[in-house]
Amino acid sequence: LRNIGVVGLGNVGLCTALCFANKGNKVTGIDLSTERISTIQNGKSPFYERNLTEYLNTAISQGNFSCSSNYASLLNMDFIFITVGTPNLVNGSTDLSQVRSASKSIAKVIGRSREFPVVVVVKSTVTPRTTRKIVKPILERYSKMKMGVNFGLCANPEFLREGNAIEDTLHPDKVVIGFDDERSGKELAAFYESFYGSDSKIILTNTETAELIKYANNVFLATKISYINTIARICEKLRGSDVKKVAQAIGLDSRIGPKFLEAGPGYGGSCFPKDVKALITFAANLGVSTELFHAVENVNAEQVEHVVSMVSRLLRRVKGKKISILGLSFKADTDDVRESPAIKVIERLLSLNAKITVYDPKAMKRAREVLGDSIFYSPSSREALMDSELCIIMTEWKEFTELKPTDFIAVMKRPTILDTRRIYDPWDFQGKTKFAGIGLELE
Ligand code: UDX
Repeated sequence: LRNIGVVGLGNVGLCTALCFANKGNKVTGIDLSTERISTIQNGKSPFYERNLTEYLNTAISQGNFSCSSNYASLLNMDFIFITVGTPNLVNGSTDLSQVRSASKSIAKVIGRSREFPVVVVVKSTVTPRTTRKIVKPILERYSKMKMGVNFGLCANPEFLREGNAIEDTLHPDKVVIGFDDERSGKELAAFYESFYGSDSKIILTNTETAELIKYANNVFLATKISYINTIARICEKLRGSDVKKVAQAIGLDSRIGPKFLEAGPGYGGSCFPKDVKALITFAANLGVSTELFHAVENVNAEQVEHVVSMVSRLLRRVKGKKISILGLSFKADTDDVRESPAIKVIERLLSLNAKITVYDPKAMKRAREVLGDSIFYSPSSREALMDSELCIIMTEWKEFTELKPTDFIAVMKRPTILDTRRIYDPWDFQGKTKFAGIGLELE
């Protein structure tokens, strides 16, 4: 069991910290936001994540997790994970300012620490070469010590999904460890082997390959989504065809696989849009053609316009019409609205002067921070549907899948459903309401 520091208590940092703590490691979390620290110390999660509150309270009560804004509490750690945010700059490249400042603060603490070697682990998503060319020099300069001698350094990207972060941290498909000095790599691999068991799939490589793996992984998944969304548009023009059948069939080919073939309003969230952009910028700087990645991005951007054009076709005139939107988060089981297609569709429909009423089980608060009072917020899906002429399903929340045609018919003015997530069986609505979906031929 180890002493572990985790710097940056966002979704990745907090979930990682608590999973380590719940297996008995002593974990110290650091975050510069004192407000966030006091929320966490009070046993509350600063964002919605399944099982997180339970994990947090168990870890606190067992004395395995504490947190503060003071880097001095990172003295004498075995590992210090960097999990700060790496947003995009306007030019598409990655903003490494938080990684730099965290590295500097860590350097000052390990400089004062007496027990060596601590291994610093870069878990934040960073462009290839960041660990070697940016983090390492900062750590060496401010600690006045040598990497590989007095402290270790690894790149260790994560692949966890929002909403499923605890489960993904406990059962990852793989663990990627990039190292430039062998001792650090071995140390971290030994820790993960004891954490996950000896049959865990650990990929050992150098730091830049590890960093690239993260982008290659996410951009591949984004590519799958843009691919199936393109097939969906073909299906919409091909009488009687359905993208769900196509996805089901091609997914059975073991070379393709069934996951990430759900057509919809496009990918969103804090990772895919940012990572596709960052890989484009990175590849272009190396002189590598980025055509494929641009296509992935373009298809995704068009998908929002595509939903808006379906709305125009269904309603003919959008102006003044009451439209209900069910779902605001970029996917189910999260309150995150960053890059959410729902928000983008709403903004477009507002520009066409529609009257929008929304409901989401978890993301109302965060959506209000973005959309303000430009739309109406309903306390339930039933109220959101009241007197409306079109319902658009934007997020695949379980409670929406349970709605029956009668739930729409009972309260809507002219029941029309646009199912962008394909959560309903169109046959259930046949002859009862007007129904359209992504990847289905419009009536
Ligand atoms: C993603 C990666 O999956 C994860 O490995 C990485 O660490 C962070 O980014 P996340 O952003 O939480 O995780 O969401 P994910 O479940 O991957 O979905 C991303 C977006 O793609 C969502 O908007 C989702 O609705 C969309 N999506 C996903 C589809 O449109 N179709 C699919 O088949 C799958």
